[in-house]
Amino acid sequence: VLEKSNSVFIRGANLASMQDGSHDYGILEADVLVKGERILKLVPRGDTLELPANTRILEVDGAWLLPGLIDAHTHLVFAGSRAQEFERRLLGESYESIARSGGGILSTVQATRNASESQLLSLANHRIQAWIREGVTSIEIKSGYGLDLDTELKMLRVARRLEQENPIRVHTSFLGAHALPVEYQNSADAYIKQIIDHWLPEAVAQGLVDAVDVFCERIGFSLEQTRRVYESAKQLGVPVRGHVEQLSYLGGARLAAEFNALSVDHVEYLTPEDCALLASSGTVATLLPLAFYHLGETQLPPVAALRSHQVPMVVGSDFNPGSAPLASLLLALNMSTRLFQLTPEEALRGITQHAAKAIGHSELGQIKEGAIADLGIWNLEHPSELAYSFGVHSPLYRCVKGHWYQSGSQKELNPL
Ligand code: NIG
Ligand code: FE
Repeated sequence: VLEKSNSVFIRGANLASMQDGSHDYGILEADVLVKGERILKLVPRGDTLELPANTRILEVDGAWLLPGLIDAHTHLVFAGSRAQEFERRLLGESYESIARSGGGILSTVQATRNASESQLLSLANHRIQAWIREGVTSIEIKSGYGLDLDTELKMLRVARRLEQENPIRVHTSFLGAHALPVEYQNSADAYIKQIIDHWLPEAVAQGLVDAVDVFCERIGFSLEQTRRVYESAKQLGVPVRGHVEQLSYLGGARLAAEFNALSVDHVEYLTPEDCALLASSGTVATLLPLAFYHLGETQLPPVAALRSHQVPMVVGSDFNPGSAPLASLLLALNMSTRLFQLTPEEALRGITQHAAKAIGHSELGQIKEGAIADLGIWNLEHPSELAYSFGVHSPLYRCVKGHWYQSGSQKELNPL
């Protein structure tokens, strides 16, 4: 039996390679040979290459080939809705005061605990289609609406199942330290001890944890508590990230840098001095403009300082039922330019090359020989259009894990 070829040759595309160290979107004039999951060869336009037998040729004259998009920060798995809190916020209550009165994250925790695993999966399965339609090929998903062992594990299992059932890669983060559950009112230290002694090691042992996240904030956990979680993650060999300096300055970014965190996220209150620490620890800064917008915040993240210290900037959706119920990475992309003054190129790096760093997977997010061939082919005149206009973009083709799909569809292109 002849083995079916799994080579694809993409001919005639414009390439925005987004390679490390490149300028101007890393634009290249080349055709691309993909074999299985990998980019085998970039063939400069005009050069000839003998193609492996049975190579499928994708003629995409003038379309743009981009790395598959990466949403490096979401809370996609949850049950319930917080629309009524949204009403309260519009009548003047703050996100923080609603959280302190038992609403906010804790209300989603109640709904998520009450949902069965299959209910959670079907809610999340429905939502994730929006990311797939937009050309997202990797998504990070956090736990953090369980705040008890069973529900945290349930959320992480659902995240893993989403990857099995959909053409998308899923990276998980354990966010047990997201809020203090009612069982531990007034004993935050005991809660943290429970996490580091039992829950985190158990979740890691079950293979459910790719990174560990903490909400380091006045309404979350203190610097000292965050440090304890990071130390425990370090012992377990799992990289850390943090929700830091979102509503106030606590010094979470400095701490994260000390632990060589993959990324610090939100960072509206980050100081220019701390940007230098991030640069030297190789930590990227994840900007979340949809949460900034939906909460009506006014404190802007220090984009100019991040830029001058060359801290890679990531753009994520932060999709969640409280601060960012907006299921669109491309909307975040657009808003990062208008609200935070990122250039369209910086924004696009923030959902490709730089986003790959935030999830600790440097073989994604760039088009280069040897990299993983998660890709999108787009009908654009120029890649700057992706951030410039909203509501009109979806890829013509996507490639994930070596499988090719056409436009919004979940169906694989016919194998040769
Ligand atoms: O990233 N900041 C903490 N966590 C989420 C919000 C969670 C929620 O409100 O449910 C965030 O904004
Ligand atoms: Fe978040």
